[in-house]
Amino acid sequence: MDPLPLSSTLREVYRSALGAGALSEDWAQHRLPLHAGRADFIFLVAREAGEICGFAYGYTGEHGQWWTENVARSLTAAQRAEWLDPPHYEIVELHVRPAWQRRGVGSALLAQLLTRQPHDRVLLSTQTGSRKARGFYAKNGWGELASVDFGTGYPPYLVLGRRI
Ligand SMILES: CC(C)(COP(=O)(O)OP(=O)(O)OC[C@H]1O[C@@H](n2cnc3c(N)ncnc32)[C@H](O)[C@@H]1OP(=O)(O)O)[C@@H](O)C(=O)NCCC(=O)NCCS
Repeated sequence: MDPLPLSSTLREVYRSALGAGALSEDWAQHRLPLHAGRADFIFLVAREAGEICGFAYGYTGEHGQWWTENVARSLTAAQRAEWLDPPHYEIVELHVRPAWQRRGVGSALLAQLLTRQPHDRVLLSTQTGSRKARGFYAKNGWGELASVDFGTGYPPYLVLGRRI
C-alpha cells in the first residue's frame, strides 16, 4: 500500500522529470515518509487543468542528517559558518513534468516554497551535469557554492545557496 494517498502520482511525476533511472520507488517508499517527519516540512503541488504537473518540498536541515553531513564535508569552514550552522532550509526535491516545463511552473513552486519556509538562507543540491537545472537556479538567483560527493552510486552534485 502507498504510504501517502498521492504517492503513485508523485512517483510518476518524479520519474518523468528525472528519467527512467530515477530511484522513484525508493524515494516514494522510504525517503519521502522520512522527510515528512522533519521540522518545517512543506510539500507543494502544482496543478494545471486538473493534472498534477509538478511538486516541491523541503524542511529545516540539521547537522547529523545524511545530506547535511555530506554537504558539510564539501564546504569551507567559512561556508559552513554562513550556510549550515545558522538555521537554514533545505529544498529536497523540485520536479516538473516534461510536458509542463518552461512555462513558469518550477519558478512558481520555488517562489512559494521560499515564501513559506521560515529561514533567511536556503540550500539545495543539483546534478553538476544538469544544464537545465543549473540554468533554472541561476535564473532564480541561486549561487553555486561547492561540488559535493554523495558517495558510491551518485553522480557529481553541486550545492547551491540563496539568501532570502
Ligand atoms: C529544473 C525544473 C524544475 C525547471 O522547471 P520549469 O517549470 O521548466 O522552470 P521555469 O519554466 O519556471 O523556468 C524556466 C527557466 O529554467 C531554465 N531552463 C529550463 N529548461 C532549460 C533547458 N532545457 N536548458 C537551459 N535552461 C533551462 C531557463 O532559465 C528557463 O528560463 P527561460 O525559459 O526563460 O529560458 C524542471 O526542468 C525539471 O523538473 N527538471 C528535471 C528535474 C530537476 O532537474 N529538478 C531539479 C533538481 S533539484
